Amino acid sequence: MATEKILMIGAGRMAQAIINGLMQADFNHILVGNNGNAQRLEEVESRFGVRTTNQWQNHVSDQDIIILAVPPEAHEEVLTALGEVIDGQLVLTVAAGIDVTYLESRLPEGTPVSWLMPNTAAAKGESMTLFTLGKYVTDEHEYYIEKILFSIGQFKKLTEEQVHRITPITGSGPAFVYRLADVLIKEVQKAGVTEVVAKQLIAQMVKGSSVMLTSDLKCPQDLMDEVATPGGVTEKGLQVFDDHHFDDMIKEAIRKCVDHATRDE
Ligand SMILES: NC(=O)c1ccc[n+]([C@@H]2O[C@H](COP(=O)([O-])OP(=O)(O)OC[C@H]3O[C@@H](n4cnc5c(N)ncnc54)[C@H](OP(=O)(O)O)[C@@H]3O)[C@@H](O)[C@H]2O)c1
Repeated sequence: MATEKILMIGAGRMAQAIINGLMQADFNHILVGNNGNAQRLEEVESRFGVRTTNQWQNHVSDQDIIILAVPPEAHEEVLTALGEVIDGQLVLTVAAGIDVTYLESRLPEGTPVSWLMPNTAAAKGESMTLFTLGKYVTDEHEYYIEKILFSIGQFKKLTEEQVHRITPITGSGPAFVYRLADVLIKEVQKAGVTEVVAKQLIAQMVKGSSVMLTSDLKCPQDLMDEVATPGGVTEKGLQVFDDHHFDDMIKEAIRKCVDHATRDE
């Protein structure tokens, strides 16, 4: 059992996804605070068996790690309150755009910080999380950060700049995949099967493709070539992608996400 004491500030979707992972990774000293929604704290308490507080500021001195799972716009207020009571604890945030430069500029000199960017699959322990470390993070801190991240999926340490640039792909990307899945499910249903069955067929197809991408040394083009024999059925379908500039469309979608994320920061 991990003995580190963790204070989670925020009790919403991402906080609960992480708490779920933490419990499975044997972090059992978890205290959760929020912005005053008492019903939400009760739900979290009964769902996970963690302790909760409506006055998280009073408990900071007793904690080892503080995780911020609050909206980006709440960080100014939360970090100001945290800065008054913190004393060297490790501070992590999962908020979009709240990088380590921002955290270090608003917390006392020497505070170890890290910016984590998970995606929604964290709820099922399958996040692809990007993270970057502040300048006061030690090897021991990094060990705990990785242990936390492992509990919600896979992770990759990158520079702050890389996290800014890649998050719009790993964070928004699942929605692009779901969009494709939605079209395919509706097409399957036209053959007279139920939505449940159609979803099952497409989900397994996406999962199988993901496994091939993950486990096979072949690149996506090789895998495409395996499916699309020259002159065959799939080749005709891929030709439509080319005719409609599919690659350019995806690149443009990512560019828009990056532009928007940069504008919001
Ligand atoms: N959802 C995702 O898939 C996802 C993915 C990656 C990153 N994130 C990041 O995760 C963070 C949380 O997102 P979410 O989807 O979990 O949001 P959410 O479900 O709306 O939950 C937000 C939580 O923050 C709390 N909060 C808001 N202002 C606060 C304040 N001033 N002091 C203390 N607590 C405060 C709320 O308290 P109450 O319970 O009192 O309302 C609530 O528990 C965001 O920064 C987001 O960028 C989310």
